[in-house]
This record gives sequence, C-alpha cells and structure tokens, in this order.
Amino acid sequence: MIKATTLALAGAAMLGLSSLVQAAGSGFPLESPNIDVGNERSLQRGARTYVNYCMTCHSLSYMRYARVAQDLGIPPKMVEDSLIFAVDDDGKPHKVTSMMESAMSTEYGKQAFGVAPPDLSLTARSRGEAWLYTYLKSFYLDEGRAGLGSNNAVLKGSAMPNVFWQMQGTQAPVYEEHDDGQGHVSKTLVGFEPVTAGTQSAQEFDKTVTDLVNFLSYAAEPGQERRRSMGMWVLLFMLVFTGLAWVLKKEYWRDVH
Ligand code: HEC
Repeated sequence: MIKATTLALAGAAMLGLSSLVQAAGSGFPLESPNIDVGNERSLQRGARTYVNYCMTCHSLSYMRYARVAQDLGIPPKMVEDSLIFAVDDDGKPHKVTSMMESAMSTEYGKQAFGVAPPDLSLTARSRGEAWLYTYLKSFYLDEGRAGLGSNNAVLKGSAMPNVFWQMQGTQAPVYEEHDDGQGHVSKTLVGFEPVTAGTQSAQEFDKTVTDLVNFLSYAAEPGQERRRSMGMWVLLFMLVFTGLAWVLKKEYWRDVH
C-alpha cells in the first residue's frame, strides 16, 4: 500500500517537474496544433512542405522515401518526381530507397550557421508538437541579429533563418513591460504584429504549419497509428479474457465452497 502511494507521488512529482521544465524553456506560451496522423492528405501536404522548405538543411536520417511513399499512399514514381530533390555526394539524385538525408554536411552547416542544423527525426517527440508548431510560427524581425535579421520567440537566438517569411509575411515583436516598483523594468515578449503580408492568409499558414508538424509527428513514430489501433484490440482482448477467466474460476471452485 505504502509502495503504491509512494510510486503515485513520485509519478505526480515527475509529471509536475517535466511541465515546469517545458515552461521554463522560454516562457512564451505554446500553441497546440490539431494533429491527426491518420489524415493522409494532411501528411502528404506536410511532406511536400518539408522537402521544399526544410530538407536543404535538415535530415530525417531514420526515414526512407519508400516508407513515406507507402505509408502516405503516394506512388513511388510520384515520390521520385515530386519529392526527391536531394542529391548524394556524386551529384546523383537520391533513390526512392535512400534515407531522407539533407545534402548539407555537418561541417558546412556549422560554418554557415554557427550551429549545424539538427536532424529532425525525433524532434516532434523530444520537443513536443506544441513547441514545434509555435517555434515555426514565431520568427520575428530583429535588426540586432546581423545576417539573419530575425529571432525566435521559443528558441531565443535561433541560428535558423526565417524560411517562411514570404509565405507567412514578417512580424514584429510586441512586449509587455513590468515595473517591479523599484525602478527596474523588464520586458516580456507576449505576441506579434504583422509588418508585411505573406502569400498565405493567417489561417492558410496555420494549416500549412499544422500539416508540416503532423508530418514530423508521423516521421518521429511512423507506427503510431498501428500502435493505437492495436492497443484497442489488446485492451478488448484483456477485457474478454478477464471475463472468461472469472467464469472459469467460478466453475472450478463451485464444488469446493
Ligand atoms: C537554411 C537552413 C535551414 C532551413 C532551410 C531550415 N532550418 Fe531549421 N534550423 C537551422 C539551423 C541552423 C538550426 C539550429 C538553430 C539553433 O540551434 O540555434 C535549426 C533548428 C531547427 C529546429 C530546432 C531543433 C531543436 O530541437 O533545437 C527545428 C524544429 C527546425 N529547425 C525545423 C525546421 C523546419 C521544420 C524547417 C522547414 C520549414 C527548417 N527547420 C528549415 C537551419 C535551417
């Protein structure tokens, strides 16, 4: 009994701690996207955005084009024609059986950005979908950052350029000032105001980013749909089996009692 309570308490403490760590990350409120990895069309759109806007710099080293084609219901020929732009070291285009590796080497990435663009295979799981979604939407103009001209609300000082500036449009930060009563004023970033319009409306852009995060969530665990549907059957089986076992137990013990 004591053991169970201690375990429950430890579990609760750990849950509390992990949410604190997340909040402590940047303090900027995270927005949760509507993720549905069962939505094939959304995943297809996300994959297209990914190869067009992210793959020059980031790899998905655990993912093969062929697996994506199969899971997302895209004919392999179409994948070759419309998803594969990357080339290998000899300049040959990637094959459908290749891993979704970026052509940029870690060394080059470091030189160009100061930080090599990380592999994004597991980012949807390690950072969480809400973090990823908010990160991609919260690049803002920052004159102080030479070369980039932008900053990010979730990952302060991110070395990544704002790749969506044309699609989303640009935005300026909005700060809230806090006076602690002793003449000390601190600023907190609370939101954005649009500066230039993008090629997509705000709603369209939200959808583009949702599809992209949906794809990255799928990529982080391609089997999650199967896991969930299998889980239901396993639970159902356990339920039926418990019933059977109970009936059997009653049958066995009838003569003893
Ligand atoms: C021009 C190169 C470039 C492109 C294109 C690019 N990124 Fe990045 N990205 C970077 C660099 C460099 C970093 C490292 C930032 C840092 O740590 O300061 C980064 C960091 C990230 C991170 C943070 C990872 C983490 O856990 O810290 C995410 C998420 C990310 N990129 C997603 C994307 C997505 C999605 C796209 C496509 C829409 C994209 N990036 C396009 C260069 C790029």
